[in-house]
Amino acid sequence: MLQKQTLVSSVTSGLKGLLNIPGDKSISHRSLILSGMAIGRTNIRGLLRSEDVLSTLRAMQQLGVSIADDFDKNVITVKGIGTCGFHSPDKPLDLGNSGTGVRLIMGALAGQPLTASLTGDASLSARPMKRITDPLQQMGAQIAYLPQNEKKGLLPVTVKGANPPLPLSYATQVASAQIKSAIMLAGLNARGVTIVTEPYISRDHTESMMRHFGVEVEQRILADGRHQVTLEGEADLTAKSILVPRDPSSAAFAIVAALITPESDITLPAVGLNPQRIGLITTLIEMGANLDIANERLEGGEPVGDIHARSSKLKGIEVPAKRAASMIDEYPILSVAASCAQGSTYMPGIGELRVKETDRIAVMARGLKACGVSVKEQKNSLTVYGQKQITGGAAITSQHDHRIAMSFLVLGMVSQQAVSVMNTETIATSFPEFASLMNSAGAHIYAPEV
Ligand code: S3P
Repeated sequence: MLQKQTLVSSVTSGLKGLLNIPGDKSISHRSLILSGMAIGRTNIRGLLRSEDVLSTLRAMQQLGVSIADDFDKNVITVKGIGTCGFHSPDKPLDLGNSGTGVRLIMGALAGQPLTASLTGDASLSARPMKRITDPLQQMGAQIAYLPQNEKKGLLPVTVKGANPPLPLSYATQVASAQIKSAIMLAGLNARGVTIVTEPYISRDHTESMMRHFGVEVEQRILADGRHQVTLEGEADLTAKSILVPRDPSSAAFAIVAALITPESDITLPAVGLNPQRIGLITTLIEMGANLDIANERLEGGEPVGDIHARSSKLKGIEVPAKRAASMIDEYPILSVAASCAQGSTYMPGIGELRVKETDRIAVMARGLKACGVSVKEQKNSLTVYGQKQITGGAAITSQHDHRIAMSFLVLGMVSQQAVSVMNTETIATSFPEFASLMNSAGAHIYAPEV
């Protein structure tokens, strides 16, 4: 358990320099799980060393995968044990705060001959799991919740894998990469073709990485705009090295900080630019941001580029609901940018935010109001009314949500009175070096004097 920590952020100007953002969280989880299911040794460079990813790493070790870490070279070597090689762990797998870790691992377990229990922290134990376990049950996995959690489908959960799982054709109601990936991971051992159709395309890192390991995976956009993935079962994965790009969802905090603070000019090299992850960049450019991308290239099969962000005069816009999946984790920090924009920013189609690490619509609305920003909260949308001056001065609790904590620390940079955020230890789940990196560029994020 990490020690509780409060951080304060105060008015900032002139953020400058080259900031190296850590590795992509989504790709890091997938690289550990898929390399553990491959045959041979996979070298992973640039893995994100955050609490969430370490939870997945420890779970893989409990399942029998050996993992060596050459910290100095930043290379992790995973010795894969094949798609049927995991063994039943003797203790529950504790995925901490990680929704991606727990859901993807559930999928991988559902198609293997073993029994395993999965648990998590208070935030993860309040998040819905039926969206994952329902399709996995249809594939033949046996799933058991505690009687009192059965109805809501909350952790802890015990999975008895199907041997072999049935191939499934499944249409999801929400565009969720976690649902899609869990089904695909179970489908690796199915005798036949597994198909997942989602209302529109969510991040497709699982598809790309499975192909990288030699699995036959096809993607197509249907005539009605839905995205469909087809996976050939009884697949073998062949180990192949992986380079993890820098995380655009972590870069988002530094980008918005530079846009809203005066006289700022920062560069973020080699950030991942997968089209399903850059909705925030498109949105900020529509809001008038001084943002350019240079040196676009492919690194380890993923598009990356150098992002250059400077102080900007932002204006409010309506963010198309269809863009939500490509910026689903970025709405908290977008709300901070919107607080500094001229006019209002309307964010529809974001109901999924209510089932993230916390109810991000409610928690952002409450915190922004406490800092003097007017907002309108509805079931599936949030409207933020930009302010000439932000009062700040509030004490915000992170609610075990790293992105809430970082968003309010960025808001503190433009507030008349410093903003304090409690339980910032949660930031270590995705971006452990956030405060030190921002301070190295000129921010004032510090522990309060006691
Ligand atoms: C993730 C998918 C998203 C995102 C999460 C990471 C992933 O969740 O919010 O932080 O790595 O697959 P959903 O796919 O459930 O929207």
